[in-house]
Amino acid sequence: MIKADVLVIGSGISGLSYAIKISEKMPEAKIIIVTKADEDESNTKYAQGGLAVVTDLDHDTFQSHIDDTMRAGDGENNLAVVKMVVEEGPKRFKELVDWGTRFDEKDGELMLGREGGHTINRIVHHKDITGAEIERALLETVNNSQNIEMLPYHYVIDLITQHHVPGKELNEDNISCYGAYILDEKSKKIKKITAKITLVATGGAGHVYKNTTNPIIATGDGIAFVARAKGKVSNMQYYQFHPTALYSKIDGMLFLISEALRGDGAKLRTKNGEPFMAKYDEREELASRDIVARAIDNEMKITGDEFVGLDCRKMNKEKFLEHFPNIYQKCLDEGVDPFKDLIPVVPACHYLCGGIETDMDGQSSIQNLFAVGECTNSGLHGANRLASNSLLEGLVFGHNAAVKTIELLDKNQFNFEDLKAIPEWNEEGMKLLDEMVLVSYLRKQLQEMMSDLVSIVRSNERLEMALKKQKEISDAVQELYNYALLSPKLSELRNLVNIAELIIVQSIAMKVNKGAFYNKDLV
Ligand code: SIN
Repeated sequence: MIKADVLVIGSGISGLSYAIKISEKMPEAKIIIVTKADEDESNTKYAQGGLAVVTDLDHDTFQSHIDDTMRAGDGENNLAVVKMVVEEGPKRFKELVDWGTRFDEKDGELMLGREGGHTINRIVHHKDITGAEIERALLETVNNSQNIEMLPYHYVIDLITQHHVPGKELNEDNISCYGAYILDEKSKKIKKITAKITLVATGGAGHVYKNTTNPIIATGDGIAFVARAKGKVSNMQYYQFHPTALYSKIDGMLFLISEALRGDGAKLRTKNGEPFMAKYDEREELASRDIVARAIDNEMKITGDEFVGLDCRKMNKEKFLEHFPNIYQKCLDEGVDPFKDLIPVVPACHYLCGGIETDMDGQSSIQNLFAVGECTNSGLHGANRLASNSLLEGLVFGHNAAVKTIELLDKNQFNFEDLKAIPEWNEEGMKLLDEMVLVSYLRKQLQEMMSDLVSIVRSNERLEMALKKQKEISDAVQELYNYALLSPKLSELRNLVNIAELIIVQSIAMKVNKGAFYNKDLV
């Protein structure tokens, strides 16, 4: 058994900033970060557009950022949370800069970009690789700290709760978390790591669909294991599709074509060059993401085309190259010259607005278990996240959760005597799968089903069909799970199946269309 004061699951902006804050205030605390791939692999690393924050009170106001967030969220946001995040934002942004993150400036002033749903330029960025720059700076800070241990290629199988303590009743109103069972991919052993406080910061679940802008690790692990531990999970029906991912004939992770391009003047066109956004919203290309994604989906259905075009041909080339060098290079690599051709784009699954329910401190419904970032339903995003509010959420809630954690550790009311009784993970009688084909077949089936039946536009019939199909896949996965030695691939599949069920069931429960959720039978 490994013992920690704090166990952090996930190494994106939320997990890293939380760990840094605790380490700074409590140099004697033992903090372990586990992450299932390389230490920098996270949704954070792929964020392009930037971080939305009010930095210039001469031109912008907190109220305007609050209003834009509420409008994008279709009023389903928690206003008190939105206010808190927007108003705390500038302080947290300053800390990010103090940790060494570089943001683009001109003549000593921050350069501010714009994306859909914002009424003013307020997005701080580092070219078109803001997330990678943040990840770099935070990891450097983590690696310089004396009391944070980073364990890459450590995959969390399940949280440890009373359920695992022999003789303890699992009372669903009073569950506590004591750490997690974690598969060390090198040794292939499942370790038991106990902790006074555990933070889930595992990001999104984009790979529940066929096409997503998320990296391959985004399989909803944290939400699934919290749901299995009977923690509250909500708003899963609100999966946001990004309007413009680079079209590819190959399914999987699609390259993001940042919304900041539309903020700088890029226009949407059909494949034949016809503008269409004015038909859908007076804000045209700068309407919020749910509206733009549905408009593109509709145009593709009308024309039968596999993609629409993003027209950058009239944009200022010098500015484009300065702000979007990465996107430019990627387009050239794919044989598209943004100054001569329309960039072929499609909507792709991008951001989960729901997840583990938390309060303003990131405390989940399970005691001693915090959750921050895309894996949560914190109340900030409502039915549809405003562009570039996610990095801000990770920072602000990372801070709040750290402050609360420090308070709890200071009180030191943890009784760890019981933990000695927690058994090691039992693998007796389990078999090594001699081939993975069943796992990859079931994963593909699940992704196909979700993309065909539970996508941007849903219907009652499709959702009912999806639930039946999900059940079939779930039963097949459970059979494998009952006899196979655990691997990350099998565990991810089990998690994706749980995520799909949560999305479908919570979609069926919706009686009205809101934000990113749209059922054509409810119109
Ligand atoms: C983008 O750059 O378009 C994505 C930013 C975000 O998802 O907030």
